[in-house]
Amino acid sequence: MSNVDLSAKIPNNVDLNADKRLQRALEEWQPKFVDWWRSMGPEGFQTHDVYLRTAVNVGREGWANFGYVKMPDYRWGIFLEEPEQDRKVGFGDHLGKPAWQQVPGEYRNMLRRIIVTQADTEPASVEQQRLLGQTCPSVYDLRNLFQVNVEEGRHLWAMVYLLQTYFGRDGREEAEDLLRRRSGNADNPRILGTFNEPIKDWLSFFMFTTFTDRDGKFQLLALSQSGFDPLARTCRFMLTEEAHHMFVGETGVGRALQRTAETMNKVGTDPAILRAHHVIDLPTIQKYLNHWYTSSLDLFGGERSSNAADFFASGMKGRYNEEKQDDHVALAGEYDLSVRGADGRMHVEKVPLRNAMNEVLRDGYVGDCEFVCQRWNRVLEKAGRAERLELPSRRFRRAQGIYADGCYDPTGNPISSEEFEARKAAWLPSKEDLAYVQSLMHPVTEAGKIASWISPPAKGIDDHPFEWEYVRPPHA
Ligand SMILES: [Fe+2]
Ligand SMILES: [Fe+2]
Repeated sequence: MSNVDLSAKIPNNVDLNADKRLQRALEEWQPKFVDWWRSMGPEGFQTHDVYLRTAVNVGREGWANFGYVKMPDYRWGIFLEEPEQDRKVGFGDHLGKPAWQQVPGEYRNMLRRIIVTQADTEPASVEQQRLLGQTCPSVYDLRNLFQVNVEEGRHLWAMVYLLQTYFGRDGREEAEDLLRRRSGNADNPRILGTFNEPIKDWLSFFMFTTFTDRDGKFQLLALSQSGFDPLARTCRFMLTEEAHHMFVGETGVGRALQRTAETMNKVGTDPAILRAHHVIDLPTIQKYLNHWYTSSLDLFGGERSSNAADFFASGMKGRYNEEKQDDHVALAGEYDLSVRGADGRMHVEKVPLRNAMNEVLRDGYVGDCEFVCQRWNRVLEKAGRAERLELPSRRFRRAQGIYADGCYDPTGNPISSEEFEARKAAWLPSKEDLAYVQSLMHPVTEAGKIASWISPPAKGIDDHPFEWEYVRPPHA
């Protein structure tokens, strides 16, 4: 079942050779994908040699190769985790029945929507990040950006494989549309809000890969539970790649903090003085955190959601930690949701558990983000600083869900919209903050050198030192 064919036009462990129709459909889509990559992928680096890892297997050990490759020649493959013998549906109305190997007819539309929504985020992020290479803080960071980009490309392949294999003509059309939508385009945008926001500087990139890729992690964890077995196996493998994206984000912010802390130790905390030393003052880092964290919270959907209940009931999308739950049917439980009452105060409202599944997933995400914040604060602590970063309340600056109607401060207290407007500049990046961070974005492309605002990493990639030439310009 899982013999890996690396010599095939499309490397895979799904025995693509045995299904000629599918193979043809994917081979027809491949040049369109490469065209999209050339026009919407990293601009200015398509002929560079980049030291990238490529997925070649799904085993725990040695699943990837490292080597120099020109990005349009990257071997985007299709890899599913090994099947589990006699796997059963693990939750919902079909608990204990055999997992589906084909799409159950009654859930076809639902499943298609779930897959397309996940799929759309993958090319979207590549589009959002396509100009960043031109302002990289180091060659090491440049390589990491491209690693994230090619793997998001592979995630698109993973989802397109599902669409083309299991959804016939509809699936083929969806696969085409995934290459047609464009991040931030007014007429044909990407599906989810955060994926239409431009990422113009590297602090945004590191926040995005920390917080938005981490939303991806939780969505993939929930889909890894799916009773539709091919989806579960696809998502399980994607998670191994996702871990690196979050590493890039978390260590990127951590290294910016390191540089800022060292500079504060020398010149004090006055933002104007810190800016004169070309580092990013802590309040600005906090504001970026506030922006990208809250934007990513929106991706989990409504707090009360009949869609979420249907996804769970059908066995299509579980909880991120379903195996640790006692009750896999979740018909009995309730969720305590904080709701703003007519009196303007917060009250607890009981929501049937299945309808609160988005919020359950968001809880897991918030907890994970709290650990990230603690690790960032350890960087400050180790540098001898007393300042700390903080996650804002999940009610702050929401554009989706029940908290989007009112205004809240970062600790979650209800406030008036006038107060929000008046204090916004202290909480979220102002035009000046954005312009300042942008002013730091000069490309540093000599191996071993690094921009003023960020520290070098503790170590390089694949046992190579930081000074290694991870990206090489084309030979003249
Ligand atoms: Fe992804
Ligand atoms: Fe990712």
